[in-house]
Parts: sequence; C-alpha cells; structure tokens
Amino acid sequence: MKIAIIGGGPAGLYSAILLKKQRPGADITVYERNRADDTFGFGVVFSDATLDNFEKYDAPSYRRITQEFAYWDDIAVHFRGTVHRVGGNGFCGCSRRTLLLILQERARELGVTLLFETDIDDEAHFADADLVVLADGINSRFRDKYIEHFQPEVDLRSNMFAWMGSTRPLDAFTFIFQETEWGPFIAHAYQYEVGRSTWIFETDPATFKRAGLEGLGEKQSADRMAGIFGWFLEGHQLLINRSMWRNFPMIRSKRWVKDNMVLLGDAKATAHFSIGSGTKLAMEDAIALADAMHRAPTVEAALQQYEEGRREEVEKTQHAADVSLVWFEHVDRFWNFDPVQFAFGVMTRAKAITYDNLTLRAPDFVAEVDKAFARQVRARGFDVDVEKPASPMFQPLRLREMELSNRAVVSPMCMYSAQEGVPGDFHLVHYGSRAIGGAGLIFTEMTCVSRDARITPGCTGLWNDEQEAAWRRIVDFVHANSAAKICLQLGHAGRKGATKLMWDGMDRPLEQGGWDVLSASPIPYFPDSQVPREMDRAAMDAVKAAFVASAQRGERCGFDMLELHAAHGYLLASFISPLTNQRSDAYGGSLEGRLRFPLEVFEALRAAWPAHKPMSVRISATDWAEGGITGDDAVDIARTFAEAGVDLVDVSTGQTVRDAQPVYGRMFQTPFSEQVRNEARVATMCVGNITTSDQVNTILAAGRADLVALGRPHLVDPAFTLKAAAWYGAEIACPPQYLAGKEQIFRNSVRDRQDLDDLKIKAKPKTRAELKAEATKPLAAE
Ligand SMILES: Cc1cc2nc3c(=O)[nH]c(=O)nc-3n(C[C@H](O)[C@H](O)[C@H](O)COP(=O)(O)OP(=O)(O)OC[C@H]3O[C@@H](n4cnc5c(N)ncnc54)[C@H](O)[C@@H]3O)c2cc1C
Ligand SMILES: Cc1cc2nc3c(=O)[nH]c(=O)nc-3n(C[C@H](O)[C@H](O)[C@H](O)COP(=O)(O)O)c2cc1C
Repeated sequence: MKIAIIGGGPAGLYSAILLKKQRPGADITVYERNRADDTFGFGVVFSDATLDNFEKYDAPSYRRITQEFAYWDDIAVHFRGTVHRVGGNGFCGCSRRTLLLILQERARELGVTLLFETDIDDEAHFADADLVVLADGINSRFRDKYIEHFQPEVDLRSNMFAWMGSTRPLDAFTFIFQETEWGPFIAHAYQYEVGRSTWIFETDPATFKRAGLEGLGEKQSADRMAGIFGWFLEGHQLLINRSMWRNFPMIRSKRWVKDNMVLLGDAKATAHFSIGSGTKLAMEDAIALADAMHRAPTVEAALQQYEEGRREEVEKTQHAADVSLVWFEHVDRFWNFDPVQFAFGVMTRAKAITYDNLTLRAPDFVAEVDKAFARQVRARGFDVDVEKPASPMFQPLRLREMELSNRAVVSPMCMYSAQEGVPGDFHLVHYGSRAIGGAGLIFTEMTCVSRDARITPGCTGLWNDEQEAAWRRIVDFVHANSAAKICLQLGHAGRKGATKLMWDGMDRPLEQGGWDVLSASPIPYFPDSQVPREMDRAAMDAVKAAFVASAQRGERCGFDMLELHAAHGYLLASFISPLTNQRSDAYGGSLEGRLRFPLEVFEALRAAWPAHKPMSVRISATDWAEGGITGDDAVDIARTFAEAGVDLVDVSTGQTVRDAQPVYGRMFQTPFSEQVRNEARVATMCVGNITTSDQVNTILAAGRADLVALGRPHLVDPAFTLKAAAWYGAEIACPPQYLAGKEQIFRNSVRDRQDLDDLKIKAKPKTRAELKAEATKPLAAE
C-alpha cells in the first residue's frame, strides 16, 4: 500500500506513525514544505485525557512526549488586582518544536519517509497512491482547490490575536484581563518547558486600533504588549516568531473526503485557541483515521467510516470552542463584575465546568463566589447571611414590591386542557403541586385575552367571569399553601391561532370549529395554514382593550405579577420579527416601527396593572433564521421595554417561522439572556434545556440571568426546587402536611451528597501534575 501525506504537522506525522505501525510493509511518505526543525509558534497544551489516548495508541512517542512536559493543575485568573486560582484541571504543556521533533524521530524509526522542504502543489504527483492524507494546516491549499466539494465555511472572528512567547515561568494556566487606556487586553499564558511560556494576546478590533497596533511590526507590537503586561512579566522578555496579529478563522467543512483524499487536523476544522484543543484534535483525527483503516475492508470504506465516526466529536469540541471564544469576544459585558464572579464566569464559560464541579475541586473559591452573590443581595436590602450564604439559587429577589424566596421558576406551559378557556381541576392540581414543590415563582400558561386569541380550543383564557373565578381559586390555593408567587402570562395567538391541541398536531390548523386569525401581515404559518387578516387600527384597538380587560381581571384574581407574551411567533411577536411583519405603515419597517404596537399594548397594561406589582415581557431573542431577529436586536428590544417600565425580560428564542434552524444543546438559550442582561442592563430570566439545580446555580453565579425558568423538568418533577434545597441544605417553605417528607429528604441528602462526592473523588484518577508532585516529594524522615 502507498500512502502520501501532505503536511508534517501533528496531524500528518501522527497519522504516518499510526498507519505505519498498522501496516509495516506500506510505503508511507510525509511531504513537508518547511525544514525539519523550522517550526513556528511556541507551546501546545494537552489535557490528561488526551494523553491517556496517546499512551494507548503509541506508547514510545507518548513516553518521550511526557518526559518533556511541563505539568500544572491550576488555572489562575488575574482581574482588577485580584487573582483567583482553581485546581484540579490536569493540563500539560510542551514546546511545539519538541513535539514535532519527537514525532519525526518516531516516524523515521518505524520506516516512514520524511521529505522536508518539499512544497506540494498538485496531488497528481500521487496518482499511484492508495491514500492521500491532506494535513496541510489551516490555510490548506487542497481544501481550497476542491472548495466546491469540501464546502468549507470560514468564519473569521472579530477579535485580534498574536501568539508570542516569554521566559517568564508560570505555575498555572494563566488568564490576565488587563484594563488599558485603549480598552481591555487579554493574555492566555502557560509554561511549556523550563524557562519558556506561551503567551497569546487577544483584544477587540476597536481596542486594537486605539492602541495603535495596526501596521506595527512584530517587534514593536511585542514591545507594546510588554509595556501593558510588564507588571506581570517581572523583567522577562517577550519572544516573537511569526507573531503577527490575526483574526481567528473558525473553519468547518461540509465534507472531509474526496475519492482517496482525506482532510485531517486544521485543514478540515479548527477550534479556538482559548480551549487549547487544536493539536489534540489534529492528533485524535489521526487516531480516528488509523482506527477506521484498521477496521474497514477498503480505503473507500475506511474514509467513509472516519468521517461518519469522527464528525460528532469534532463538532462537540468546536461547539465548546465557539462558546468559549464568544465569551472572550464579549468580555466587556462582565467588566463591571465583582472579580470573583468574573473569575467564576471565566471558569464556567464553556459549560463543561459547573458550580457543583467547582465546589468539589475548589470549595474556597465557590464559597467566595457565594459570598459575593449574597453581598449583592444584601445590598438590595435583604437581610441574608453573607458569612454562610445560601447558594445563588436560594437567594431572594425583589421585583418592585414582589419578593421571591428563591430563583427557580416554573416556565409558562400550555396544558391544552381548558373548557371554553376555563381552567379546571387539572389546572388547580398542576399549579398547586408545583407551588408546593418549592419554586419561587410560577407562571401560568399563555392565557388568552379573548376567545379568538386562543392558540387551541384547550387554551385557558381570562375574558369572562367564569374564567376569573376559576383563576382566583388557583391563585388563592397557591397563596394559602405555599411561599410561591404566581405570574399571569397574557397572550394572543395571532397567526398561530385556531390550531390543534399539541398532541393532535402542534400548530396545525383545526379542521373543524376554527375561527378567523389576525397577524401583522397576511402570511400563513404553514403553506396550508389559514391566511391571517392584516390588523388595521380598529383591530389593534380591540386587541389592546382585550389585554387591558384581562389584566384587570388578573388583578382581581390576586396574581402577583403580569407577563406580556411577545415571543414564539404569536400575535405581538409577529409584529416584532421582520420575517412576519411586512407592513409599510407606521407599525412595520424599522425595529422602532415593528415594536410600536407591542409597546403600545405593554404601556396600556402597565398603566392598568398596579404600580407596586412587577411586569415582564417574553421575547424571542433570535428567530434562528436568516434576516430575522438577532441577539443584538434583542438588546434593543429589551432596552425599549425597560424604558417603558418592564422589570424583567423573559428571554426565549425562535418558534417564529417554520424554516428556523435552532442550535439546541444544554442551556442553549442562556447566551441570549446573558447578552440582554449585561448589555441592556435589565434583569432577565433564562430558560431552555436547563435540567439541573447545578446548572441553575452556575448560570446565576456567573451573572448570566437573575431568574432561571424550567419547563419540561417541572412537568415530571413538581418538587424540583424542594429537592434542590435539600441537596444544598437551603431554607425552603413547606406546608405542614408534608413536613415529615421534607425532614427525611433533608437528612438523606446530606449523606447522599457526601457519598457521591466521595465516589467522584475516588473515581477521579490523579492528574499527571499530582503524580509528578508525589514522585518528586522528598521521603519523610524515618
Ligand atoms: C495562537 C494559536 C495558539 C494555539 N495554541 C494551541 C495550544 O495551546 N494547544 C493546541 O493543541 N493547539 C494550539 N493551537 C493550534 C495548533 O497549532 C493547530 O491546531 C495544530 O498545529 C494543527 O495541526 P495540523 O497538523 O492540522 O496543522 P499544522 O500544525 O498547521 O501543520 C500543517 C503543516 O503542513 C505544512 N504544509 C502546508 N501546506 C503544504 C504543502 N502544500 N506542501 C507541504 N507541506 C505543507 C505546513 O508547513 C505545516 O507544517 C494554536 C493555534 C494558534 C493559532
Ligand atoms: C408543553 C409545553 C407548553 C408550553 N407552553 C408555553 C406557553 O404557554 N407560553 C410560553 O411562553 N411558553 C410555553 N412553552 C415554552 C416553555 O415555557 C419553555 O420556554 C420551553 O419548554 C423551554 O424550556 P425547557 O427546556 O425547560 O422545557 C411551552 C413548552 C412546553 C413543553
């Protein structure tokens, strides 16, 4: 078998090694345009888990690599004169040059031919090869040559970065966030061998310009960085080696294989340097390719297996890298944070590290985070304990005069079980049990302001006396039997009205018994949905009056709070999104025009709703569709509502148009809440695939939302919050009838938590840094 490998970086060399081990008789050549020791850049970093993988696949190179490594466990975050350190991270660094020399030596030993200073311009040279590996890096010539086939998507990120080195020793992976007269600069730094550390500097484009870095030579820009970070460098030099400032290209390729050619490493996909996974991905690609070549009967089948088997893992890493890079791009959102809360945000930015996980590894750090959170709550007039504070989930919050005893919320969820809009026994039990279950705030499902404002025939309403009496019974029950507050969500279905119950076909038009529907523009939801009537001024007045009348009924029922539903493609949302509003009058066009009617309704409600009771608005912060609402629009929308007196923005997303492309995942809507909260400076509630109290605490502690709503988890677990209180040992109200159960779960949780923590600690293998520290510890004197 003949194998040609273009590119002698980590991907090319490691695939040569693994393939040669598998097929000692194969003729394998690596073509590299640079000289053998001609490497650019400084250090690379691997996690302990990645090294375990290397050990399994090629022990000799693993041993040599690890002999050369610098190990560290801690991450240190420097911000505004403070430093916070968190241990247990298990990372290793090594120089890129050393790594490549080790891989070259090992490849030679096995009989791979290495041809340096050989620039390949045409793969036709390898017409007789069975396999051609394209490992030619981030600017892959061959990916671009077959651009139509591989279909790479290159997203050039906005921040500028430069990769430098230093002689400054470091004992932790170090992030330095530095305020300057031009704006914020960030250094990501780690030691990779004795007396050498990697320094990646990053800043936003405006700061870059203001700092006069545009057009500066490498040496001058290094001097500028040395000036900014001089206090930390302590006289050590900054080293340069092709250290020009660049924008990071986030690359994804639709296809990785063409005939017998396959893309590996950066050529196929990149991952932002802030999660240090580029070399790991490149070498794990080589592992995946070797595995597939081992298993499959033909090269063609192997390449197909490689692509199918590897894609998900690569995309997962890229997603984590995306989340991380976005955090760094928007660091100004957190610049006014308390330093410990800021450091918590740095640690938890990419979702893998959470509040509970940090509590186990760095209990003192989390204790500081809790104290800082409690201090902020205390500053708002609550008499909370700041020395032994409750976790953020169990800190109170005040909106106008409404006080919530904790920050867990039951998200609004239609039950499609009302008769003519009247909530019945099902609703009493449903809302009542969730209130008893401990959530601080319960939202009603979307309650419709008139008969023809309903989504389905099963939706609740609040336009007549019978409905008012039924809702009052529910509100009274919640108030009499729990500490929960209850918020009425009012809405109008718009073009999504007159549709079937969820379990009969969500958003599908009713076949019988429908009613006429309204919208901003006459655009049906599905092609075969009813064409809505474009609202004229008279219709707007009627709808506004219906909202006000329902709010007045809501006040008589005793609701504590009112939410205006302006999300999910219903009537008011259809005005806000340009995809559903194509009006040419004052209620369309610019965002200001599109917001005019929803804002009018909000203002009328605010005037009718008692001044001491809070109001929220639910928005879709993105339409997840080309030309639709984006996170930046959501900030403007939130600001506009905040100026009109909204106390909380309930940040949801999507459901506006059928062809939306949401990116789902854990906590997938939380980034929008974070953006709205910290750019529009308004309190937010986040929601969406948040399933654990650990996530609730992580989101709150990092300042990404003020309240956290859970929908589906509450459908199956009314006592979600009570259980979480037991887990964290927090105070929580409980009706006397259930006290015995509460006492039991509180008692058992202490033990269960201890057992689980012990198990996690026992199951966690020692990091290489810990092992090394143990090995070098002097023996205790006899
Ligand atoms: C600022 C920065 C910091 C980083 N930090 C880290 C880190 O801490 N940890 C980490 O793991 N990764 C890090 N990376 C990423 C890492 O450098 C790359 O992801 C990794 O090197 C990819 O390996 P590769 O083999 O795919 O590509 P490369 O290492 O780029 O190798 C490609 C090789 O192909 C050769 N080549 C290209 N075209 C041809 C041709 N036509 N003919 C012959 N040869 C050719 C090139 O000369 C090069 O040697 C960082 C990247 C950047 C930009
Ligand atoms: C059955 C069901 C009904 C829903 N009804 C409403 C509703 O009436 N009003 C609303 O604003 N959101 C509604 N939603 C959306 C939820 O409030 C929530 O935003 C969504 O389920 C995502 O959160 P989760 O992942 O915690 O479930 C509904 C969701 C579900 C699952």
